[in-house]
Amino acid sequence: MEIRSDFLVIGSGIAGLSFALKVAGAGTVTLLTKRNIRESATFYAQGGIASVSSKEDTFEAHIKDTLDAGAGLCDPAVVEMVVKDAPARIQELIDLGVEFTRRGIGEAIELDLGKEGGHSKRRIVHAEDLTGRAVEEALVHAIETNKNIRVFEDVIAVDLLSHSKFVAPAEEDTVWGAYALDKKTGEIHTFLAKATVLATGGAGKVYLYTSNPDVATGDGIAMAYRVGAEIADMEFIQFHPTCLFHSKAKSFLISEALRGEGGVLKLKDGTPFMQKHHRMADLAPRDIVARAIDFELKKSGDECVYLDITHKPAEFIEKRFPNIHKKCLEFGIDMTKAPVPVVPAAHYTCGGVRTDPNGMTTVNRLYTIGEAASTGLHGANRLASNSLLESLVFADRASAHAIDIVKRTAPGVPSIPQWETRGAVPSDEAVVISQNWDEIRRFMWNYVGIVRSDKRLERARRRMNLLKNEINEYYWDFRITSDLVELRNIATVAELIITSASMRKESRGLHYNIDYPEKDDIYFKKKTVLRVCG
Ligand code: FAD
Ligand code: SIN
Repeated sequence: MEIRSDFLVIGSGIAGLSFALKVAGAGTVTLLTKRNIRESATFYAQGGIASVSSKEDTFEAHIKDTLDAGAGLCDPAVVEMVVKDAPARIQELIDLGVEFTRRGIGEAIELDLGKEGGHSKRRIVHAEDLTGRAVEEALVHAIETNKNIRVFEDVIAVDLLSHSKFVAPAEEDTVWGAYALDKKTGEIHTFLAKATVLATGGAGKVYLYTSNPDVATGDGIAMAYRVGAEIADMEFIQFHPTCLFHSKAKSFLISEALRGEGGVLKLKDGTPFMQKHHRMADLAPRDIVARAIDFELKKSGDECVYLDITHKPAEFIEKRFPNIHKKCLEFGIDMTKAPVPVVPAAHYTCGGVRTDPNGMTTVNRLYTIGEAASTGLHGANRLASNSLLESLVFADRASAHAIDIVKRTAPGVPSIPQWETRGAVPSDEAVVISQNWDEIRRFMWNYVGIVRSDKRLERARRRMNLLKNEINEYYWDFRITSDLVELRNIATVAELIITSASMRKESRGLHYNIDYPEKDDIYFKKKTVLRVCG
């Protein structure tokens, strides 16, 4: 099947849905999503969205906090643009029906603002501790009532349609849509468009332990890399310090907002330890807190540390964190009475497909927005709650840019050959996929995790080389499935992370290498940029 539209959006988190809504007045929109429309990191976001919203706060303070966290690698112009655009984007969400938590009474009613690590002021706009769900629901509702947007659920984009590959090899790279697999029928469809947007989220699933949902397999980053787009700063993987430690709790986050409201990290014997690692103690930036926990765990041999908020009144905890409180109770932990066992886990991909301030990649007609992008906002470390914000701002800017590009496109998109299966047969050994998947995630956690070394990175590279060949052979010999597509992408993204981490011979932000424990501004105050050869 061949489906044509003006805009092709891949991904249904905050970035993809926001973009789709904004361009829908200017043309036809096709939106692909690989599970149900709500399944995304966005849906699980807890803490909120950073936006200067009180008299005590200033844009300058939010800009400074973002630049400080980014450890010298943020693009200051992008930071300023995003921070100053935040209030307008929050207002749009309110107009769309998102009910952010408020406080006060009568005339004095105002947004309730949370605090998180690295923020010098209270500025996190939130909907209790289910901010992402509130935002996603409002966006999905608006999408479902928009006639110009056609949504395909359970359809996974496999590869981008690149002009130079199919139409005119000598021409500059241009993307005209994507091949995508219908998971229900096993068919591969051709989706043609005048502008294609990757809003595919991050790649937390590259690691054994992650706060991310299963969809976070870095598909957009891998697809963009394969068509020659520049990929930047992949070594900067953010580990969230506090995911629930429980054998049955799969990737459940204990929001940083808990520490913002006074939660204290403690060792098993009840000793607080963050004060000795940073002057901001429990509210230090995430890289510092995650490394401090890693250090304490390696020293004590314990499996987890504890997050204690029991000194706060039970009614306050239940009201401010209803979702986290309920979830912990399901696992037999009453956080009003006992500290919560926590460990760090891979949480956010700071790098991604390199874009300009309009979300445009280095390949024509290809945009990337949201977590899949590297826009210059985060640098070497993302400030908490700046991600949902970045997605909103870049969806807005990219939509304006893409509308213009689509308007100026001569009618007709080049014709692209249909997907060929080239004699591939159904796989006889699905175990190859699960085995390789587990292996990558485990060695990425052990060798390319919170603390790295040259030796560990080299070990990871050697294993990756072996697996890469096996996965490629498998990919071309057997009929593709969604699992195989994701495995291939995870392998590509893991390799990009290993390569970027190996190139950065210093420690900065989220990248810590024990062989080079200091920051080196002379040689490394710059982005790590990778592009496929040939
Ligand atoms: P996502 O929301 O992840 O959406 C990606 C979409 O792409 C999904 O629909 C997925 O199915 C689809 N997709 C992926 N690959 C394909 C493919 N090949 N074909 C078709 N569809 C595809 N950030 C904050 O700013 N504040 C917070 O409070 C916060 N809390 C968080 C809590 C948790 C538990 C997690 C995991 C993250 C949190 N973050 C937070 C980070 C933030 O949620 C994400 O960075 C943000 O939601 C990313 O939005 P996105 O639209 O780029 O991607
Ligand atoms: C959290 O609630 O701790 C997550 C916030 C974020 O990732 O920005």
